[in-house]
Amino acid sequence: MEELFDPITLRGMKLPNRIVRSATSERAADEQGRVTLDVRELYKKLAQGGSGLVITGYTFIKEDGRCNPRQLGLSDDYHIEGMKALVKDFHASSGNGSKFCVQLVHGGRQVPPDTKNPVAPSAVKEPVLGTEPRELFPEEIEELVLDFAEAARRARDAGFDAVQIHAAHGYLVSQFLSPYTNKRDDDWGGDPMRRARFLTEIIDRTRHEVGDIPILVKLNVEDGIEGGLTIEEGIGHAVAAFEAGADALEISVGMLQTPKGKGAVRGPEGSGGEGYLLGLAAMVKERVKIPVIAVGGFRSRLVMQTVISGGQADMVAMARPLIREPGLPKKFLEGKEIADCISCSGCHKGEGPVHCARLGKGQV
Ligand SMILES: Cc1cc2nc3c(=O)[nH]c(=O)nc-3n(C[C@H](O)[C@H](O)[C@H](O)COP(=O)(O)O)c2cc1C
Repeated sequence: MEELFDPITLRGMKLPNRIVRSATSERAADEQGRVTLDVRELYKKLAQGGSGLVITGYTFIKEDGRCNPRQLGLSDDYHIEGMKALVKDFHASSGNGSKFCVQLVHGGRQVPPDTKNPVAPSAVKEPVLGTEPRELFPEEIEELVLDFAEAARRARDAGFDAVQIHAAHGYLVSQFLSPYTNKRDDDWGGDPMRRARFLTEIIDRTRHEVGDIPILVKLNVEDGIEGGLTIEEGIGHAVAAFEAGADALEISVGMLQTPKGKGAVRGPEGSGGEGYLLGLAAMVKERVKIPVIAVGGFRSRLVMQTVISGGQADMVAMARPLIREPGLPKKFLEGKEIADCISCSGCHKGEGPVHCARLGKGQV
C-alpha cells in the first residue's frame, strides 16, 4: 500500500513524496516575462515547504499567446538566464530533494482582447474576455508545435527537472481537444483523434528536444459547457497522451466561460467537497499506465493519504492551500491535519503578485 509521503519516480526523476504544488500563476514576472526577485522568493518558500514536485505558473511559449502582463515566459532565449537563477535557488533551498517543473502554455482565444492577431483552432469568440480569434493555418499549427518544444528545450537548458504541457482550462491545447472550440475538418480536427493530434505532436516533438526529462500534461477531460468536451472523449485524449509518451497526467476540467461550480477552481459551497475531480482522475487511472495526479479542493492530510493508499490516484496536487501555506506538506509531517485555506478564491481574483486575500499582500 502506497503512502502520501512515499517517494515516486517519473521517468528517472525521483520525487520524495506524492504531494504536488499545482501550477499557480505568480503574476510577478517583469513586463518581458522574466523572473523577478518576487518570483525567486515565492519558489524558495515552496522549495523549503516539503512538496515533492513544484510546478510553476503557466509560462508563455509565444508572445501572442500571453495571458497576463506579469506572466513568466520562455518564448525567447533571453528568458533562460533568469530561469536558471530561479532553478538554482530552488534546488539550493529544497531540504528534501523536491523537484521543479515548468508549465508551458499558449493562450489561444483566452488572451486579452487587445492582443495583436489572436489565434485559435477555429474562429470561436471567447465570451468572457470578448477576444475574437482567427482560425490558424495548418502551417502555423506545425510552427506552434515547434514553439512548444523550443520552450521546453529552454526550460531544460535552465535546469528544470521536468516540463508540463498545459492542455487544460480552455487554453490553446485544450481548445484543440474540445469540440466546442475546434470546428476544423482537416488533420487537426474533425473527430476525437484529430482533435488530440496537436497535443500528441507537441509531446512527440518535445521529447525529441528535451531527451529524457519527464513530460507531464495537465489535461482537461471535461469542459463543463454545452457542446464541450465530455469525459468519454476526455478519457480517449488521456490514452492518446499516454501513448504519445507523456510521463504523468494531471486531470482537470473547465474553461474560462465554464460556470463556477463546474470549473477547475471551485468555492467551498456546492463544489462536491475535497477532491472534487477525483472521480475523473480515477477513471483515467484505470486506462493509462503512467502516474495520475488528482487536483481540486484537497485540504486535509487524511483525505490525501486515503486517495493514495486507496489507489485512486498516484499523486495529489494543491494550488490555493500552498499560496497561503507554502510549507503545508512539512506541517502535515509535523502533525497538522487540515490546511488553513477555505477555498474562498480571493487569490484568484486578486491583483498583483499572487497572495492569500485573507492574509493580505506581502505575506505569502
Ligand atoms: C491564483 C490561481 C492561479 C492559478 N494558475 C494556474 C496556472 O497557471 N496553471 C494551471 O494549470 N492552473 C492554475 N490554477 C488552477 C490550479 O492549478 C488548480 O487546478 C485549482 O486551483 C484547483 O486546485 P486547488 O483547489 O488546490 O486550488 C490556478 C488557480 C489559482 C487559484
